[in-house]
Amino acid sequence: MIEIRNLNKAFGEHKVLKDISVDIKEGELFSVIGPSGIGKSTFIKCVIRLLRPDSGRIIVDGQDIGSTNSEFTLAKVRRSFAYLFQEGALFDSLTVFENVSFGLKYLTDKPKSEYRRIVKEKLALVGLKDVEDLKPAELSVGMKKRVSLARSIAAEPKYILYDEPTTGLDPVTTGMVKDLITDMRAKLGITSVVVTHDMKLALEISSRVAMLYGGEFAEVAEPAAFCKSPHKGVQEFMRISGLSSDCRP
Ligand SMILES: Nc1ncnc2c1ncn2[C@@H]1O[C@H](COP(=O)(O)OP(=O)(O)O)[C@@H](O)[C@H]1O
Ligand SMILES: [Mg+2]
Repeated sequence: MIEIRNLNKAFGEHKVLKDISVDIKEGELFSVIGPSGIGKSTFIKCVIRLLRPDSGRIIVDGQDIGSTNSEFTLAKVRRSFAYLFQEGALFDSLTVFENVSFGLKYLTDKPKSEYRRIVKEKLALVGLKDVEDLKPAELSVGMKKRVSLARSIAAEPKYILYDEPTTGLDPVTTGMVKDLITDMRAKLGITSVVVTHDMKLALEISSRVAMLYGGEFAEVAEPAAFCKSPHKGVQEFMRISGLSSDCRP
């Protein structure tokens, strides 16, 4: 479980996150939505301590990583996280096998002799077969997304954080990524945090949706209740997204 308490983060005078508190429970698919530039990436980066919060606690399975400087504690907690960047960020010069097995060396004690089997297994989970020797340039956009995801889950994380997983993708690939996210949760029980400006996506896949507005969570609710939120920020964003209070277009 991830317990966030009074999280604050500013860049200079600009207070991006103001005293945010929320619990992300085991097995949840928790989405943070909001328009571009509102602080979604800042939030996710604070949670995995890619950014250091100005104040507040980030308690992951009982360990507070909000302000610790202990590399030992950070490394230990980071092992339970996978972070899927928007671009996927595969290493172009490495093969699919090398990309997917990359984290195994640093994040696990698995013997090298196991790598082939593990990589095959993770690729199968994301619906890929016989692609180990290809380079990223030989893959379609959708396949790259799958490989990135396979790499993220290779070290068997407990939590997976997705930053704008569908931004810039065509509708078919978006649908595929949506299914993958739901699948990872169903098949592996991974607790997931998705940040996105895609309201429709968030409402379709999440157990709870949080709306980031003026540095705070304006609403945190299950999708059906979320759509009915009286908060003006939520209603405005629903309208912009072409959705009504029954969550339908
Ligand atoms: N490293 C940084 N230094 C200064 N300002 C930043 C930095 N990172 C983000 N910001 C600012 O913080 C705000 C929130 O950014 P971000 O979290 O990336 O938003 P989102 O992911 O919702 O689009 C933006 O105004 C952005 O310009
Ligand atoms: Mg962002």
